[in-house]
Amino acid sequence: MLWTRDKKHMKKMSADCKQVMKVVSLYRKVQEEIVMKVIVLKDYDEVSQKAFEVMKEVISAKKDAVLGLATGSSPIGLYQRMIKDHEENGTSYAACQSFNLDEYVGLSRDHAESYYTFMHENLFKGLDMKEENIHLPYGNTKEDCEAYEKAMEHVTVDIQVLGIGANGHIGFNEPGTPFTEETHIVTLTEKTRQDNARFFDNDIQQVPTHAITMGIATIMKAKKVLLVAAGANKADAVKAMVDGKPDENWPASVLQKHDDVIVIVDEAAASKLNA
Ligand code: F6R
Repeated sequence: MLWTRDKKHMKKMSADCKQVMKVVSLYRKVQEEIVMKVIVLKDYDEVSQKAFEVMKEVISAKKDAVLGLATGSSPIGLYQRMIKDHEENGTSYAACQSFNLDEYVGLSRDHAESYYTFMHENLFKGLDMKEENIHLPYGNTKEDCEAYEKAMEHVTVDIQVLGIGANGHIGFNEPGTPFTEETHIVTLTEKTRQDNARFFDNDIQQVPTHAITMGIATIMKAKKVLLVAAGANKADAVKAMVDGKPDENWPASVLQKHDDVIVIVDEAAASKLNA
């Protein structure tokens, strides 16, 4: 069973959600207010499948789509489906460009846990993207941040994939980050480093203390935002994002101000949402 939810309504839907989604969009226009589309599905597998369908629609409509990409556990199921679809159906990414959200400071690109390595291992090596069209931020200076913004100056991201931190971060924009920030260097919170220690032998000391990240203002320029989340540890953040007011202490809540956001979550991550 599929559920779609905006700030005021939850509608139980049968398998064909498309018709209802049209109604939700129409509702948005009529009300002249921004409504966050939230789809709640049973588990991570269903979340990944739906996320893939959203991605495929964008790629099918625009061969040279600009993809905003995230690392972490959340988009892996989506990336696996993109690779499978490329292999089985020949969907091509040769004309696409990609811009990743973030990268640790202090790890070389060939480090096993760099986001550069993550993206090549989990996505790029399975697609036909051209290396020169792949962009990840790198470095720890103001100039490195400005260079990344400059690289994005003449493009519009067609679809920005996001995960969400347990503390509500998007990219590495930790709680308290002004919504106006562009690409910048951040100090990672203890919570984020603890959460990511699983990739570093469960040893927080090995987790970098800083990262370079697209800012919230950078993320908000994307045409469409696709946020995926699964698991009970995301429930507070998902609640603040959907039910709370836009609040810099819960960075993902800024997405309420974006007019084309689709949030796809499993039942555990949705468990604290208002009915
Ligand atoms: C990753 C990123 C982060 C993650 C978030 C959730 O590029 O920007 O915001 O999306 O930390 O991580 P996972 O998906 O591992 O739970």
